Amino acid sequence: MKILTKKKGPKISKYIYGHFAEHLGRCVYEGIYVGKDSDIPNVNGMRTDVVEALKNIDIPVLRWPGGCFADEYHWKDGIGALESRKTIVNTHWGGVTETNHFGTHEFFELVRQLECEAYVNGNVGSGTVQEMSEWVEYITMGGTSPMADWRRKNGQDEPWKMEFFGVGNENWGCGGNMRPEYYADLYRRYQTYVRQYGDDKIYKIAGGANVDDYNWTEVLMKNAHSMMDGLSLHYYVHPQGWEKKGSALDFDEAEWFVTCEKADHMDELITRHSAIMDQYDPEKRIGIIVDEWGTWFNVEPGTNPGFLYQQNTIRDAMVAAITLNIFHKHAERVYMTNIAQTVNVLQAMILTEGDKMVKTPSYHVFDLYKVHQDAERIDSYGDDLPQTMTHTVSKKENIVNLSLCNYAVTGSEQVIVDFEEVKNVKSARYIVGDKMNAHNDFDHPEDIVIKEFSDFALEGSTLKATVPAMSVITLQFEV
Ligand code: AHR
Repeated sequence: MKILTKKKGPKISKYIYGHFAEHLGRCVYEGIYVGKDSDIPNVNGMRTDVVEALKNIDIPVLRWPGGCFADEYHWKDGIGALESRKTIVNTHWGGVTETNHFGTHEFFELVRQLECEAYVNGNVGSGTVQEMSEWVEYITMGGTSPMADWRRKNGQDEPWKMEFFGVGNENWGCGGNMRPEYYADLYRRYQTYVRQYGDDKIYKIAGGANVDDYNWTEVLMKNAHSMMDGLSLHYYVHPQGWEKKGSALDFDEAEWFVTCEKADHMDELITRHSAIMDQYDPEKRIGIIVDEWGTWFNVEPGTNPGFLYQQNTIRDAMVAAITLNIFHKHAERVYMTNIAQTVNVLQAMILTEGDKMVKTPSYHVFDLYKVHQDAERIDSYGDDLPQTMTHTVSKKENIVNLSLCNYAVTGSEQVIVDFEEVKNVKSARYIVGDKMNAHNDFDHPEDIVIKEFSDFALEGSTLKATVPAMSVITLQFEV
């Protein structure tokens, strides 16, 4: 593989490394928010261990409150004194009690602690235009107004910064079962009242397609492209299909490869949705926002089926690396993505049990890959990498980053890379599985951790590396 390190490429948006926390199962409650009176160490109710772990992977943006929950969420239920907040039923996720103790103020406190940006998803499915418009006013209005005054009364003087706002979620399904023509009109109407009160522009995201519903993209772009900044896309990997999905821990080699191939399908989805967008937006002003992606397996035996709790193995790490490499490849169009979901739900970064916490293999991929955030993508040429290998090369200031993922199950691969120019190796780190379902749990939290990688040699500017099966590696070079 030849890499022209001096050639300019597109910026890999840091928002590709975004996360998603829904009021679903034990993601927000228990996983992130335990309340001020909890014995679990916390700051203003937010678990210190989880906040620290997420900061370590440079979380750039967090999407909240859903998901399907977003189109049932009425934000006014979640402000004011905790004891006076309305208790409701989370009808979509397990029919459990929702105390509304984690609301707008708590979300922005979390964002403050994470030092990340906010992506709030509004309610189109069961909310009014006025409700959505007042939420935006409550969050972002600096001057005197009914909502800004109410926010002050509730303890927050200054407006918050809300960089991203989603106008509904999955409005083809749980967000109202709409036809694209109908949603496109609703989008035009609702987004009108997502006002900009201060100097900061709110990036407006229209609810996009389910997987390969190209007609949805066509209709939305045709009818509303001038009124949106981003268009979402949702795609999950379930190896055995939607009905049966498959187990997170118990699978064979055939299922391993089906999972990786299904992850690779993201490339075709982005290529084809993007081609439709190109007809209306050849400049690529509108970003593709993949605000839900990742593996979706059967829930762990004995857990609430509505909580979507699944283990996370080295196979999930392969899915994460394959998918991130695809997002980088489409850096000209993909502006933000949010893996589902941050803690205890689907392809989580973190699992918790009481006061214990483990970092998953997927977490470690986000750690290995954080060097690509806002770096310039560098294309490689003449590559005949093995079929089971995917990669990214990027450059930031005087550092070139090379990430390689080998999703073969056995054997290792020799890779020879000719850089146009590199000097020293700055760092070489990797994760590797010794079996297909290698994972971390509360008794063995460090079976998969990032280790130093040493099976390589740099001669001049030629790198020779032996890449093990089931591994993800990031090498950094000074240029
Ligand atoms: O992430 C879980 C669910 O998947 C979300 O609530 C919904 O948007 C999607 O169907």
